[in-house]
Amino acid sequence: MTTKQDHVLIFDTTLRDGEQSPGATMTHAEKLEIASLLDEMGVDIIEAGFPIASEGDFAAVSEIAQNAVNSTICGLARAQIGDIDRCWEAVKHAKSPRIHTFIGTSPLHRAIPNLNKDEMAERIEQTVSHARNLCDNVQWSPMDATRTEYDYLCRVIEIAIKSGATTINIPDTVGYTAPRESADLIKRLIEDVPGATDVVFATHCHNDLGMATANSLAAVEAGARQIECTINGLGERAGNTALEEVVMALKVRNDIMPFQTGIDTKKIMHISRRVSTVSGFAVQFNKAIVGKNAFAHESGIHQDGMLKNAETFEIMRPEDVGIAGTSLPLGKHSGRAALRAKMADLGFELGDNQLKDIFVRFKELADRKKEVFDDDLIALMRDHAAGEQSDRLKIKSLKVVCGTEGPQTADLVMEIDGEDRSTQATGDGPVDATFNAVKALFKHQAHLQLYQVHAVTEGTDAQATVSVRMEEDGKTATGQSADTDTVVASAKAYVNALNRLLIRRETTEIGYDTKTVRYTDAN
Ligand code: KIV
Ligand code: ZN
Repeated sequence: MTTKQDHVLIFDTTLRDGEQSPGATMTHAEKLEIASLLDEMGVDIIEAGFPIASEGDFAAVSEIAQNAVNSTICGLARAQIGDIDRCWEAVKHAKSPRIHTFIGTSPLHRAIPNLNKDEMAERIEQTVSHARNLCDNVQWSPMDATRTEYDYLCRVIEIAIKSGATTINIPDTVGYTAPRESADLIKRLIEDVPGATDVVFATHCHNDLGMATANSLAAVEAGARQIECTINGLGERAGNTALEEVVMALKVRNDIMPFQTGIDTKKIMHISRRVSTVSGFAVQFNKAIVGKNAFAHESGIHQDGMLKNAETFEIMRPEDVGIAGTSLPLGKHSGRAALRAKMADLGFELGDNQLKDIFVRFKELADRKKEVFDDDLIALMRDHAAGEQSDRLKIKSLKVVCGTEGPQTADLVMEIDGEDRSTQATGDGPVDATFNAVKALFKHQAHLQLYQVHAVTEGTDAQATVSVRMEEDGKTATGQSADTDTVVASAKAYVNALNRLLIRRETTEIGYDTKTVRYTDAN
């Protein structure tokens, strides 16, 4: 006999709290794509952005709201009438819109806008009532709740509920709490605050002490019915609760945590890869659920056990999170049908035109590389998507001379705003020479913050994935590219980062920048 289990709402904030992570800028098209994947995978609420932050954020939230099929679309707003109005303008076309408004309630956060407890309480009453007059679905968050005096927290939550909030979110903004404390707090609030049983309590954890998943699950066991999370745990500092971890924990350990979510877990791997690609944040190899090694069994004992019975060392099946079973690599004799089928296994449904383009790239790669593995194809799709953007800067050709006799020299042709330009530059090594050539053709003040190379697969003919992070005036952007030639991949990743930085320059000219807006700025 199956008993009806409580539903836990999944609130994804990859496009707001995740995108806020320095360097994780996404383009408008990428935000729309991620939102549509979240919607398809069964996320209940998508926090699509912070509409007051910039024209770009506003445009993304509005378009996501208009396109959403099943998910509720939420926008973030500070406790200010102007923020809330702007947020409503952006989400109001959604079938199911939500306004999320917040203010920092802990002593440290109250000190910044210089509001005393009574003044802040009054602000909460005014802003939540205003939001509720616009929208039936209002979420309120006391930022830094886990470091707010308990009595004051109860007082402001009661005010928010009386003013019309329908969801009360309890953020552990700095990742300070621990599982038992997280559970106690939710339990006590639900018992002590008048009206608490009429609203949904949410948990929003950060991972500074590596406890975000545990804290979120503990909160659910204590009565929270909404988990706020991001794909791959993307987010500032150590990130947010990872969606894939809480969802799979509830599924695999449903015997002791009998709660259900609406997530189609088979879609997890694909969205994880897309978020990693578009944010430029690589997933660590041993990351739970979505890391490259999460289902790899290296040691002899483990491999032997796995061959006899997969359950010996596996608590969930790779297929459950959308990892295709072991499959043979493709090669230069593989045809379009094989490529299309393999791409579909990897979560990419290719239309006829897209298949035509990808097939050309695949053949080029297969000519240089004997075996084309799944990871090669994923990297190829990522480069294809990056190439589809209308970039201002493009690498046309690159020739590098390197070896023991310096100086290393790069001959580069680049298209800049539709015009071909060429130069030669030297440097301390081939990559340095190449970056100097880019800089000579496109002068900029951005600093290189990170340069990282990973082999996509094994062997000397493996593709290299290069990640480059650039910083300019406090704004950061990450670019990635893959190629069997590490220097070519480096040049493309560098130019990709510059293109993203240019987008950030354009989208943050008006209004605030989500990466620099002061959340505690009350007026
Ligand atoms: O971590 C936090 O406190 C937040 C709030 C804006 C909800 O992200
Ligand atoms: Zn947060």
